[in-house]
Amino acid sequence: MTATSPPHRRLPADPDRRVLLRGGLASSLAPLFGACAATPRAPVLGFASVPPSSADALVVADGYVATPFMPWGEPLGIAGQPMPPWRDDAGNSAAEQALQMGMHHDGMHYFPLDGSRRGLLVMNHEYVDDGLLHATGAADWSAEKVAKSQAAHGISVVEIELKGGTWQPVRPSALARRITATTPFAVGGPAAGHALMRTAADPAGTRVLGTFANCGAGMTPWGTYLSGEENFQDYFVTADTPTRHEQRWGLDRSSWYRWAAHDSRFDTVRHPNEPNRFGWVVEIDPFDPTSTPVKRTALGRAVHEGAWVAVTKDGHAVVYSGEDAAFECIYRFVSRDRIQPGGFKANRELLDHGTLYVARFEAGGRGRWLPLVHGQGPLRAANGFADQGEVLIKARQAADALGGTMMDRPEWLAVDAASRWVYCTLTNNSARGPGGRADVDAANPRARNTMGQIIRWREDGDFDGATFEWNHLALAGDPANERPEARGTIVGDAYSSPDTIAFDPRGVLWICSDVGNSSLNRGEHARLGNNALLACDVATGTTRRLMVGPANCELTGVCFTPDGRTMFVNVQHPGEAPRGRNDPADPRRHGNWPDFRPGGRPRSATVVVRRRDGGVIGA
Ligand code: FEO
Ligand code: CA
Ligand code: CA
Repeated sequence: MTATSPPHRRLPADPDRRVLLRGGLASSLAPLFGACAATPRAPVLGFASVPPSSADALVVADGYVATPFMPWGEPLGIAGQPMPPWRDDAGNSAAEQALQMGMHHDGMHYFPLDGSRRGLLVMNHEYVDDGLLHATGAADWSAEKVAKSQAAHGISVVEIELKGGTWQPVRPSALARRITATTPFAVGGPAAGHALMRTAADPAGTRVLGTFANCGAGMTPWGTYLSGEENFQDYFVTADTPTRHEQRWGLDRSSWYRWAAHDSRFDTVRHPNEPNRFGWVVEIDPFDPTSTPVKRTALGRAVHEGAWVAVTKDGHAVVYSGEDAAFECIYRFVSRDRIQPGGFKANRELLDHGTLYVARFEAGGRGRWLPLVHGQGPLRAANGFADQGEVLIKARQAADALGGTMMDRPEWLAVDAASRWVYCTLTNNSARGPGGRADVDAANPRARNTMGQIIRWREDGDFDGATFEWNHLALAGDPANERPEARGTIVGDAYSSPDTIAFDPRGVLWICSDVGNSSLNRGEHARLGNNALLACDVATGTTRRLMVGPANCELTGVCFTPDGRTMFVNVQHPGEAPRGRNDPADPRRHGNWPDFRPGGRPRSATVVVRRRDGGVIGA
């Protein structure tokens, strides 16, 4: 999303959402998707940046207030269900956890019910720290602990309202909902019912239990939430020697989350196709708590960070996504059909039909999209692709065969509808270079890339164009670093490892850093402090730090109310132990935000950011 003024990507404040496509497609999409950029005006960053901080504290710019909200374990207030209070010894049961906020908040969006005063906050809970999740930590592993872990994953839908200048949960709410690793999902698109999707429990291959590893999130113009199933490989165990297909997806005999010990579904020896049912983009109608969420296989299987939607001038949906894994690719789906007026009901199958592409970035600032279509080029039975379903289930292998560019870990994408530039964070890839799977290339220009970069492109013609121009918004880094490759090209406040990016209603690009805890505040990252939230005026590249997170967290999930006066940000994994789990028996803590109770546990939480004067965030 470049330079100029407001992309207006947010949904309007219409409770029934029909306003979205009322009055003709082109005219109604214009205000939403930025055909309104006729009077460009550069966004202004009107706050003084905060310096880097390594304290266990949330630090925000002068004139702003940042308030923790709906942390892990807080009951959602689902109508007709109990509201089990959080126990600060982590003593809640699995059944209670299924009625509470999950752990490790991640991608998030605000869906208006009454403009910027009342809405649904929908968010992912990406993963868990078993050392903190259970009263006795990861010891004495049991079926109850597996069930609690599964209940702490997934997605929360929370109804919230602004009362007297403070956001509060509406409890009970008929719209509040938890989706977990055991909630039934439908399967849509060409891989639905495919032989590789069938299991003993689901011989039709059309109904999957659960979603997990949900990382980034997008929202559609027809009012639904898209969530990416990211590192699903960490939940399965294979035979001692994984199959070639399993190996290509990083599956092996070990599993960090150990669900297979008490749930055989996660043992691929017994259920070889179960992993094929994860790694999808899932679509959820947050306004209907009885709706069955859907895995959208036409968008391809990948370690999806998330999925982000653009709309062509003639009303086709274009969905961008990337695979957050070193040397994996960026994808684009173009819908066969046009978006119809009438919200989700009228667009139920829109994401089931269309063409998936993988990006090839070429030297000289040009690139092209290569179609993942069965029967074209190498995607034939002789090469292991029996049909389109298999191409999608094995999208990685298909991208290999086509020659998609192997990127430095694609994380979030953000679409600037006004200018049609699409931005993608490439968080880092220290394995790039001689001896790695790939050497440097034009799009991924640094060996031992510890800092990451933000790439952007614009298709020729429209979002569905076959070719594109591209460049870098910035190579991240600290200009004081000794190693030239770690210095970067940022104009303004430095950061490393960009992850979440999102445009606000004014067209300012917000960037969250996600430096891993084994690198944070040391070595090349010694001067950058804890992970931070920065604003970037993409017209000039000027970047300014608004907020710094508490110890060992990442900041993620940035979203806004339509008036731009409230920003929601997630603080994920505060106090995380470097390279491992916390140990509840260890009195030392790597952080204790936000409760700071002596001996207590750090908790992921949303943060509500407001200006003291009630003004527009960032202005
Ligand atoms: Fe879950 Fe790629 O961050
Ligand atoms: Ca991420
Ligand atoms: Ca990350």
